[in-house]
This record gives sequence, structure tokens and C-alpha cells, in this order.
Amino acid sequence: MFPELTRDDVFRLETRRLWLRWPRIADATAILCLAGEKAVAEMTAAIPHPYPTQAVDPFVFATRKGNALGEHLVLAITPREKPNELIGMIGAHKQATGRPFIGYWLGTPHWNKGYATEAVQALIDTMFSLVEIDAVEADTRVINPASRRVLEKSGFRQEGSFLKSLPARGGLFPCEQYRLDRSTWAALKSWSVSGWAPLPAAEQQQQAERFSEEPCMA
Ligand SMILES: CC(C)(COP(=O)(O)OP(=O)(O)OC[C@H]1O[C@@H](n2cnc3c(N)ncnc32)[C@H](O)[C@@H]1OP(=O)(O)O)[C@@H](O)C(=O)NCCC(=O)NCCS
Repeated sequence: MFPELTRDDVFRLETRRLWLRWPRIADATAILCLAGEKAVAEMTAAIPHPYPTQAVDPFVFATRKGNALGEHLVLAITPREKPNELIGMIGAHKQATGRPFIGYWLGTPHWNKGYATEAVQALIDTMFSLVEIDAVEADTRVINPASRRVLEKSGFRQEGSFLKSLPARGGLFPCEQYRLDRSTWAALKSWSVSGWAPLPAAEQQQQAERFSEEPCMA
């Protein structure tokens, strides 16, 4: 599913504030520290809690191997100005349906700054641009409003609720299924290019100052 381009560890996605790159063994400490927090792990299907120290290196190797084989695309989320500092992770995974399934987490010190949304939107753009897929899927636990909001801000539509097996949580839990169709994504992209959008605050300020300096022509 994943093209040659993403199968090499020089692959990067750059957003306004982030670099998304392949995980490295040097990220192990940050993964252990950030993903090891209960508040992060408990919302995911696969992150164990407590996170066993000896599980991190094999996890990083497995993500790199899967990236190289094109089985998935799992990336470290890093600040653009500090690309060696992992602050979270994001991945797109192959499913039997042929549609990729996306998952993500951010370390708690980095919550509510829009980073997850920025990373999700970059990954989605990449998937629709590079891979012939009709939709991208995701799901969240019903008790996870932050993740729901990330998906809604990225154009996903809720498809329904179901009980999902979350192996690291040890059972079945109520979850909500989300989906973003290619047609919706394409409409959102073209709308943001051609439609009205508020100016960023700094530009609004500059424009206001320019107008206030212009002499009155009347
Ligand atoms: C879900 C998660 C990745 C969000 O990361 P983030 O970088 O904080 O997300 P963003 O800042 O892009 O967006 C979060 C949105 O949720 C909102 N939000 C946060 N907590 C909320 C709450 N308790 N109730 C309602 N909305 C909430 C924020 O206000 C923001 O929306 P806004 O931009 O409209 O104000 C992060 O909370 C996390 O890692 N959680 C644990 C792991 C997880 O849940 N992974 C997803 C599994 S499906």
C-alpha cells in the first residue's frame, strides 16, 4: 500500500511547526517517558501500561521494518526546530478493507497546541496524494473527546459506534468509527484554497494598522 517514497528512512513530512520522520532507537527514552504515561496509553489499543523498558527498542525496530516493507507508515512527531526531539507518534496502517487506518498520540506536555491535528492533516494529505485509496479510517474510545475533535477538525465523519478489542487495555471497549472520503478531502482542500478564510491574527493587525494610517479621501 505504501509507495517507494515512504519506504526509505530519509522520508520526511514537513508542516508549519512539525517534522514527521521515521522513528529511531535514539527516540526510545522519549517514547518510554511520554507513551508510558497512563493518560496517553489508556486511550490507545496497543500501548501497554506500565510500558516495559525492554519493549521499546523492539517496537522501534518493528516500526522501521514495517515502514521499509511498506506495511505501514509510522512516524515520529517532532518540532521543526528540534527534529531529534520526539513529542509523539502517528501512523497509517494497512487494513483488510484496503483503506488505511490512522492512529496517533502526543506526550501530555504537548497537548492542546494543535500538533495532533497538524500531524493528522499532513499524513492524510500524503496518503491521498501518494496512494490510490477512496477513504482513510480511524476510531476513538467514546471517552476521548480530544481525539474526536482532532478527527472532526480534519474532516472525518462519524460512521457509528461499536465494541472494539483493545489488546493493551485487556478487553472490549465502546469506540466510535470515523471515516474521511477522498471526495470530502478534495472538497475541503479546494475550499481552503479558493474560499474565504480569516487572516492570521498578525496579518489582521498589520492590515488594521495600514488602514488607520491611510488618509481619508472624502
Ligand atoms: C488525542 C491527542 C492526540 C490530541 O492531541 P493534541 O495535540 O492535544 O490535539 P489538538 O491540539 O490538535 O486538538 C485537540 C482538540 O481537542 C479539544 N479537547 C481537548 N481536551 C478536550 C476535552 N476534554 N473535551 C473536549 N475537547 C477537548 C481541544 O480543545 C482541541 O480542539 P480545538 O482546537 O477545537 O480547541 C492527545 O490528547 C493524546 O495523545 N491523547 C492520548 C492518546 C490518544 O488519545 N490517541 C488517539 C487514539 S484514537
